[in-house]
Amino acid sequence: MSITARFEAANATVIARAQAGGPGRLADALHYAVTPGGAHIRPTILYSVAAACREDRPALTDAAAVALELIHCASLVHDDLPCFDDADTRRGKATVHRAFSEPLAVLTGDSLIVLAFDVLADAAGDQPRRALDLVRILSRRTGMPDGICAGQGWESEAKVNLSAYHRAKTGALFIAATQMGAVAAGQEPDQWEELGARIGEAFQVADDLRDALYDAETLGKPAGQDAAHDRPNAVSELGVQGAIRRLKDILGGAIASIPACPGEAMLADMVRRYAEKMTPVAPAYSQAAVRG
Ligand code: IPE
Ligand code: IPE
Ligand code: MG
Ligand code: MG
Repeated sequence: MSITARFEAANATVIARAQAGGPGRLADALHYAVTPGGAHIRPTILYSVAAACREDRPALTDAAAVALELIHCASLVHDDLPCFDDADTRRGKATVHRAFSEPLAVLTGDSLIVLAFDVLADAAGDQPRRALDLVRILSRRTGMPDGICAGQGWESEAKVNLSAYHRAKTGALFIAATQMGAVAAGQEPDQWEELGARIGEAFQVADDLRDALYDAETLGKPAGQDAAHDRPNAVSELGVQGAIRRLKDILGGAIASIPACPGEAMLADMVRRYAEKMTPVAPAYSQAAVRG
């Protein structure tokens, strides 16, 4: 079964269970927030690391991948709210608060976060130690001081270190992706932190480039948001070409940081493929060069 098919089947089961018998509009909003979803980059990395470590408990890997993506989706639902970025669109459709209401969007985010940990607890089976480690990694990368909450919190500080901000806001869930993939397959998480951190940093630089260079239609969400909200970002700090150079440097380092494991070469290929996908295409940045 492909990674996508595995993820989608496991995710659909979890969401259906969370909807059953609950209030109908909130149940609809839960489904809306995760379906069809985005690029699924975090679960894809998690599955790839688990495969590279010769996974032996596929149900635990599935649970880890679903839990991680639930946290990601919850973070987007909350991030789009009027009290954060006040976005009207996400993934090419209306944001949850626009389609349902603000109270339902807050509750959707809350429900998805709690559901993520429920999924991990439920999947423990004969591996309670692994499940507990998965809970610990995911909670650490969700909250304070090292998780998404911290990342979003940096936006309320007067002085921000770009790399600490990106590491918490975006890097955290990529670190969770590599570490949870390893732990689901019975490996220790520590040596997998650097790979996740580097992919996450590259991803955020690429996201900053897309935010500056692409239009809302191409992105499926509002463009130019970093400048509009005066957020620290790689393009304002390094310029377009500087940010592209930085992206390449980070991804080169990511390949070098892959721990020795049976699927090392496969993981290096995965990072190379992402590098190609993440780098903005030439017309976008030559256009920006024309704009100056
Ligand atoms: C968007 O993440 C939020 C950032 C961390 C920049 P993705 O680009 O992975 O979002 P989806 O899930 O594919 O929509
Ligand atoms: C969202 O960050 C990342 C989260 C931690 C929720 P941004 O606000 O920069 O990303 P987009 O542009 O809304 O996807
Ligand atoms: Mg934001
Ligand atoms: Mg946003």
